[in-house]
Amino acid sequence: MVAYKTKMVERISLPAREQREQNLESAGYNAFNLDADDVFVDLLTDSGTGAMSDAQWAALVRGDEAYAGSRSFDELESAVGDVMGFDHVVPAHQGRGAENVLYGALLEEGDVVPNNTHFDTTRAHVANQGADPVDCPVPSAHDPDVTAPFKGNFSLERGRELVDEVGADSVPVVVQTITNNSAAGQPVSVENTRRVRAFADEIDARFVIDACRFAENAYFVKQREEEFAAASIAEIAHEQLGYADAVVMSGKKDGLVNAGGFVATDDARLYERSRQRAILYEGFPTYGGMAGRDVAALAVGLREAVDSEYLADRIEQIEEFGSLLEAAGVPIYRPVGGHAVYLDAGAALSHLPDEAFPGQALVCELYREGGVRGVELGSFAFPDTDRPELVRLAVPRRTYHREHFEHVADTVEAVLEKGESVPGLELATEPEMPEIRHFTAELEPLS
Ligand code: F0G
Repeated sequence: MVAYKTKMVERISLPAREQREQNLESAGYNAFNLDADDVFVDLLTDSGTGAMSDAQWAALVRGDEAYAGSRSFDELESAVGDVMGFDHVVPAHQGRGAENVLYGALLEEGDVVPNNTHFDTTRAHVANQGADPVDCPVPSAHDPDVTAPFKGNFSLERGRELVDEVGADSVPVVVQTITNNSAAGQPVSVENTRRVRAFADEIDARFVIDACRFAENAYFVKQREEEFAAASIAEIAHEQLGYADAVVMSGKKDGLVNAGGFVATDDARLYERSRQRAILYEGFPTYGGMAGRDVAALAVGLREAVDSEYLADRIEQIEEFGSLLEAAGVPIYRPVGGHAVYLDAGAALSHLPDEAFPGQALVCELYREGGVRGVELGSFAFPDTDRPELVRLAVPRRTYHREHFEHVADTVEAVLEKGESVPGLELATEPEMPEIRHFTAELEPLS
């Protein structure tokens, strides 16, 4: 059920076909290189791209820009306490800033960090501390066709195997990412969180939750985990996050803002260490790299994110988008996740081998046919890993409507009609770090 009406609008337009062809070529067949003004429906990410509410805009105007002791920080601290249940908050400019602060305080060279699946920046920050990030997804996580309620879960079996291999002393931190962005935005059950907490206790490790999409996760828990059918979203969030020693948060997702993030914890010593690092890398601990107005908007956004009517609107919209795409004939990852629909490009463009980047070929065709922008999460983004060839169509919060999604579905249908005439791609330039090549590499169509 729709939960919003529009108070402010932003003009968009679909460039002419020849212009789109030209834009694609000048972008080196990489959608990150497109000008956003040339994109009609932008599903590149759900991060920081959503619409703020009137209450958030009002808070923005009242933001307190004091360098120290800002009232807006008090508001954030109280929102984090009420919504997530933590006493101490260290603000940061966005999620990866918070990761740098927290993992720098927790990790040392040679440590090993298990996570259901590390998001790219998490992996990079763990590695940046000289530690080894290891993914422990459940086996169904990368299977687009298995229908299970919590494919985002952490595999305890894999975690224990890892501890047997490297020794408990090498594992000071266990991480759980909710929802599991790198596994098609699949949710994590509270039961799994409890077990990971117990596992961390067994090996005397700290337990961190990457809480970027904690509210979306709580909505799935309410729908799918019987124990919580009658609980409120806020109660579920408290329960699940309460098992963690600390959370890292990107406010750009379930904080419903365009900038910001934080670390939250009840552990006074960890708080103090994080605060010191934050001063070094982010800013004074009452603004942490955000403007006071952004802190104020985040405080309001966090409370809005656990409103069950907002969440029903959000999750149902994405489910409906998935159904429209399926009706258009494209195979998608099932079940549909919390923030995006993932297209199975390997199945949709089965004439293209992985080396010809079927996912990126689909991304290019979506732009060529309908000015739609998505992101490839297959062999172009993750060289040398055995992942399915997926394309993520991430949905910004409170931004697009059914007509936009119908346009995307029509676009997909037009692409599929082209069948085997959709060309594969090859790399034209390759940046120094292959792990992040998909942001800047240029490609060329195969003849
Ligand atoms: N953790 C997860 C699970 C994320 O999805 C992201 C960002 C981050 C950490 C880092 O947060 O961007 O505020 O620095 N994900 C975005 C995406 C970029 O498109 O999925 P950030």
